[in-house]
Amino acid sequence: MATPSIGNRRPGRPADGILARGEQVALRELRWKDLDEMERWPPFAEPELQWANNDLSTPVQRQLWYRHEMYDPTRKRLAILLSGRLIGVLGLRNLDYKRGRATIGIRLSAAEVDRGYGSDAIRALYKYAFGKLGLKHLDLDVAEHNLRAQHCYLKCGFHSIGEHRDIRGNLFLDLTIEAAEANRQNGRTLPS
Ligand SMILES: CC(C)(COP(=O)(O)OP(=O)(O)OC[C@H]1O[C@@H](n2cnc3c(N)ncnc32)[C@H](O)[C@@H]1OP(=O)(O)O)[C@@H](O)C(=O)NCCC(=O)NCCS
Repeated sequence: MATPSIGNRRPGRPADGILARGEQVALRELRWKDLDEMERWPPFAEPELQWANNDLSTPVQRQLWYRHEMYDPTRKRLAILLSGRLIGVLGLRNLDYKRGRATIGIRLSAAEVDRGYGSDAIRALYKYAFGKLGLKHLDLDVAEHNLRAQHCYLKCGFHSIGEHRDIRGNLFLDLTIEAAEANRQNGRTLPS
């Protein structure tokens, strides 16, 4: 099956495609070839994390996932790289430049969790989202039972603004962060 062209380099992008760097990880736009590496990631064993195990084993599943993630102007899907190796994906959805908001989602390879890479990637995302994209807020929702993710987000400066239930009755916490706090997280202060 032909490679979708959206992953090709665009004018004005750095040659290595890196959009932002953390202390250990770097972020760049996801590419079609990354799906080969994602398919080799070990799956999460926890029943409550089965949603994170994308089945990308057939070309059709890969095409559908990639088109859904990459061709929608309200979404951006970034690769999380550690020494050039793909260890996770980080997404922005509901991108609304007028309101300066987007919702984030993140998923690491099950082999790479709990080593600080997730929080490093989120802080790197702040540089890109609040800097290059000019957003003012980042939002997210996290399942009540997902204590590792909650701890990671709170550590990165997110704060609670409420909660909601999905159509199955599962409880999610609603968190947000503003540009000023995100900059503080990266050791920078904003001009007032
Ligand atoms: C959520 C995720 C991106 C976080 O990235 P990560 O690299 O694992 O997180 P970090 O190592 O940066 O931080 C995790 C923190 O949670 C803590 N933690 C781990 N398990 C925990 C638990 N069961 N309860 C509370 N805290 C926990 C860790 O000790 C660490 O805190 P510390 O740095 O203060 O010690 C990653 O775990 C992941 O991809 N999980 C599966 C998919 C997922 O849940 N995505 C989020 C959906 S909203």
